[in-house]
Amino acid sequence: MSLPYIVMASGKMRQCAYEKLNREVQLLGWQQGGRMPKEQFDEWLAQAEALYSTGNIRIDEKLLAKAPKLKVIAQASVGYDNIDIAACTARGIPVGNTPGVLVNAVADLAYGLLLDSARQIVKAHAHVKSGAWGERKPFGLTTDLAGKTLGIIGMGDIGSAIAKRAQASSMQVIYHNRHQRPDDEQLGVRYVSQDELLATADFILLAVTLNPSTKHLLNAETIAKMKKGVRLINISRGAVVDTEALYEALVSGQVAYAAMDVTDPEPLPGEHKLLSLDNVTVTPHIASATKETRDAMAMLTVDNILAGLQGQPLPAQVKLK
Ligand code: DGY
Repeated sequence: MSLPYIVMASGKMRQCAYEKLNREVQLLGWQQGGRMPKEQFDEWLAQAEALYSTGNIRIDEKLLAKAPKLKVIAQASVGYDNIDIAACTARGIPVGNTPGVLVNAVADLAYGLLLDSARQIVKAHAHVKSGAWGERKPFGLTTDLAGKTLGIIGMGDIGSAIAKRAQASSMQVIYHNRHQRPDDEQLGVRYVSQDELLATADFILLAVTLNPSTKHLLNAETIAKMKKGVRLINISRGAVVDTEALYEALVSGQVAYAAMDVTDPEPLPGEHKLLSLDNVTVTPHIASATKETRDAMAMLTVDNILAGLQGQPLPAQVKLK
């Protein structure tokens, strides 16, 4: 019996995932370095029964039309804003993602960026590396986390793991979500309106998913509602923030510091004007990039694929909202 073909959209598969998958399917993946030629991808798509995505292609009706045999799509990320779920659902193709397994890794990096936005660790390192230690001061005094208010927009599993870390630094945590969490008292976090969060938080952290209602959630108007000197941390998606409005706010001092793992555009070119500013830290979308977490994400992606190929419910299936 011939094994089903699955196509790997881009990138290199984790070894543990490859070993498990390779026993069950014929893997079509670009192994030759550089970008996969479009014609090659299209040719593979035409035969594929499953698509393993690492998140950097748009999966929409145009792609689906080229993949008539597709039974399942599994993406090795929790976010799926690059996928048209309605189009997949209309074709009866389940989509899997990887919630849960990356919570701690993402929350750790978010906490690191929160701390950096207050204490400017990255800038201090650059100062030492430049040989300037002892010759001039790196910058003025920084600020404490303790006693400050952190406002989290998007209090899901990752948001609540970040809240725990912030509480360990003696911060108060307020949050805004579409719906109040029933367990917020237990978590020690307080639900507030978006406007109250913007007006009262000393640090604002974005952990929402990107969808039409959260695109440019932070724009010139909402940024003007924030406390002057607020610090902003973004680990969600770059387009949740209007980059131009953020740039202006960082120049004027309305936002004192921005620490971001995600940007718009992404990748952010080295010569982008945001990077000319002193009050910015950017990491290249690496929140989940630890060995353990990426292995766990890859294995869950494999489990989603194998379940989908057998016509079973996926262990982590995205629901059409
Ligand atoms: C995801 O998996 O969607 C996140 O971007 C991880 O950083």
